[in-house]
Amino acid sequence: MDRRDFLKIVGFTTFAGSTGVLSSLLSGCQTAQTYNYLRTVSWSDDVILPPSLSYSRILSWGDPINSTEFYGDNNDFISILKMPNSTNDYFFWINHEYPIPFLTHGIPKAKDKLKIHIDAERKNVGGSLLHFKKIDSQWVFQKNSTHNKRWTANTEIPFAWPEPVRGSKLAIGTFANCAGGQTPWGTFLTCEENFEDYYGDVSYQNGARTHTKKSEYGWERFYDSPPEHYGWVVEIDPINKTSHKLVALGRFGHEGAQVTTAANGLSVVYMGDDKNDECIYKFISDTPRSLKTGKLYAANTQTGTWEELSLENPKLQPVFKTQTELLIRAREAAKIAGGTEQDRPEDLEILKDGTVLVALTNNLPKNRPHGRILAIEEKDKNPLSLQFKSYTWLECGPHAGMSCPDNFTLDANGNLWVTSDMSGSLIGKGPYKERGNNGLFMIPTEGKNRGTVYQIASAPNEAEFTGPCFSDDGETLFICVQHPGEKSKKIPYTSHWPHKEPNSKPLSSLIAVHGIKRL
Ligand code: FEO
Ligand code: CA
Ligand code: CA
Ligand code: CA
Repeated sequence: MDRRDFLKIVGFTTFAGSTGVLSSLLSGCQTAQTYNYLRTVSWSDDVILPPSLSYSRILSWGDPINSTEFYGDNNDFISILKMPNSTNDYFFWINHEYPIPFLTHGIPKAKDKLKIHIDAERKNVGGSLLHFKKIDSQWVFQKNSTHNKRWTANTEIPFAWPEPVRGSKLAIGTFANCAGGQTPWGTFLTCEENFEDYYGDVSYQNGARTHTKKSEYGWERFYDSPPEHYGWVVEIDPINKTSHKLVALGRFGHEGAQVTTAANGLSVVYMGDDKNDECIYKFISDTPRSLKTGKLYAANTQTGTWEELSLENPKLQPVFKTQTELLIRAREAAKIAGGTEQDRPEDLEILKDGTVLVALTNNLPKNRPHGRILAIEEKDKNPLSLQFKSYTWLECGPHAGMSCPDNFTLDANGNLWVTSDMSGSLIGKGPYKERGNNGLFMIPTEGKNRGTVYQIASAPNEAEFTGPCFSDDGETLFICVQHPGEKSKKIPYTSHWPHKEPNSKPLSSLIAVHGIKRL
């Protein structure tokens, strides 16, 4: 009897796991223990795991990685590549998504910040390239390795594109780095998501370029980069320590970039635009082993077609003068071409059989607070196909035991691991009243427990887990704890994780979860 059957038998229609009644019933049901999972939700300001698992903290916000650089704030996506010609050396790429002004320098409002405050914020975003060594099955960070390097809002990054972008071949910096991907040729992809928060955004109506959105952080007060330079996927070459912005993949609120290779060697990249009522995208490269040029499509989930976003599309040809302009305004192009508005498409994963799963986190203005997981099955299982069918793979909410799916990864057995992202200000409130803190969940994709949600970990106060990533031996799960205590407005902070001392400051941190094989 699995848990779902058990719940059905005892008459529960929802997994209201925080109630003492349910937990005592569950603990009395020996056969429910298919996996070691958390039987109740947690409100603890800590990383909570089942007894068979443990964790160690590897790096926290502000830790030096060499003599001049430090580990940035709000760690997110994690990706691991073995170094060529090495048996135990690895590159880790870790995103640093955004700064929290109160925790960074104490000045919450953009208008009150001095240049030193904004400069501090700019050093905290981007990503970290880190060298790890695996020594006797322990993963040891190599502080001061010449491989360690930070990308920040000050790093010069060229555009991989034949034309300039808003007059320049080069962007200054990367920020809002949310999730990402990895290519088969040994590079990392880091995705610029909420780019509007730093320099605002622009619109182009009737041929006029106007600023439409004010920035949240006020960087434009001291720096003059155009908003068009952000909202791209950035490719990082860990060996040469170079990077470029992949204009061909379009400009929008990129969550992640899941790469697969078609039978003819071309690369296909699936991507979500994490904003209410924005689209799911697919990119097909022109040539193998390069994402510099290719065709971009938006998903029309009503008709099951990928709509081409180029001047060859008769719907787009009258609206945009050049392909560069179309890609800068990819969101507009997607809507005109027939792309379907989704409920915040976040991370994606591709199952063994080619099914693409997409996390649709929620759509609060439309009163859909819990989200769902959407499946896309390409025609003939061919990623180059321009037709597909889509359906709800999992409806989230109290009945499922999880709300607001965000990051995905797969383990060696094909189980889907999902992190939840209930916003810090809504945890424990309204639709999420019974849900506890954000969590990490495991969902079998095959067998009798397919689609059953098992909670594996619970996050500290106001935090979410981000970037789950298994080691190549499958024994360790690396995961980030992001934005604990992010709602702090004064001391005492609203979280004291990880140091757990009365006035200790909350620190986003990379942790390693041990004991996965015993799950
Ligand atoms: Fe940065 Fe969509 O989470
Ligand atoms: Ca995310
Ligand atoms: Ca992922
Ligand atoms: Ca998130």
